[in-house]
Amino acid sequence: MSVDHQPGPAGSGERAFEHGATAVAHPNIALIKYWGKRDERLMIPYVDSLSLTLDVFPTTTTVRLSPGAPADSVTLDGSPAEGEPRRRVIAFLDLVRELAGRTEPAVVDTRNSVPTGAGLASSASGFAALALASAAAYGLDLDPTALSRLARRGSASASRSLFGGFAICHAGRGTGAAADLGSYAEPVSVPDFDPALVIALVDAGPKAVSSRAAMRRTVETSPLYRSWATSSEADLSQMRAALQRGDLDAVGEIAERNALGMHATMLAARPAVRYLSPATVAVLDGVLQLRADGVPAYATMDAGPNVKVLCHPADAARVAEAVRVATPGCSVVTARRGPGARLRTGAEQ
Ligand code: DP6
Repeated sequence: MSVDHQPGPAGSGERAFEHGATAVAHPNIALIKYWGKRDERLMIPYVDSLSLTLDVFPTTTTVRLSPGAPADSVTLDGSPAEGEPRRRVIAFLDLVRELAGRTEPAVVDTRNSVPTGAGLASSASGFAALALASAAAYGLDLDPTALSRLARRGSASASRSLFGGFAICHAGRGTGAAADLGSYAEPVSVPDFDPALVIALVDAGPKAVSSRAAMRRTVETSPLYRSWATSSEADLSQMRAALQRGDLDAVGEIAERNALGMHATMLAARPAVRYLSPATVAVLDGVLQLRADGVPAYATMDAGPNVKVLCHPADAARVAEAVRVATPGCSVVTARRGPGARLRTGAEQ
């Protein structure tokens, strides 16, 4: 099967309309994970990561400039944002204003179609949409690479959601400006591989420990972190080769071991960070049983208990059924490769 290469977003300056812009972005799931920052201010990851942008759970964000307002206003799913989510959005707007040489406050309205903070990459779609919309609203004309660097400053995984299909985020080298320049995402052309991802929403509640705090604790205290980061480099090059071959078994095996390794580093942190719940383990057992029954299916988990199962599209219904049997009552959504972030035109507002 041949899949069109999906390009990245249009430049942010192209379709801004009167003092405001709306952008739509989709979450991505990393097959090779990002975990840990070597520079928290510039949001520079320790490791390269590689992901698949999905066609479900988009985030839609509108940024309008509000020159007379005393401060920024931020709403998240219709309610005023508070605490850390509000602080992160405003810090991001401050960065955009600094780059644009502007000072006007903004009104930001974000709608997620996925539960926020449940390890389903809402920060990836959220900051990808915010980067695109705010750059356009403030008149910053950035190319896709520069937009991905900007999105990374909001959430490193967001740099990958600028692009459709498969994308790699480079960790970059060096420090300061060199690291900032070298850490960006770009699409990975994978012509003949279009898997399904069966998402088991075993728990849609917000996570107890944010991924940001958890990765800091892991880097600072887990004796396993360095060896996972080293093995992740080999995982990445093997993953790239497996994707080019369209080899689902190899892609799945590498993705599963990379994710389990990441969770092992967290379990070894002091104190331990444990995102995986009994329901997660039940789904993992279901995935093992599927493989024992001859169905190629492989699991990956992020900073939460939900499980994403990679499989052939033709097996997706059977995999979804196995997941439902493993965790009765959980909701299951099947995703495919999705588009890059895009600005909405004025007519769509
Ligand atoms: C486990 O990108 O949410 O999903 O950069 O601190 O915002 P911040 O973290 P975030 O972490 C995502 C981690 C992950 C793996 C991945 O998506 O690569």
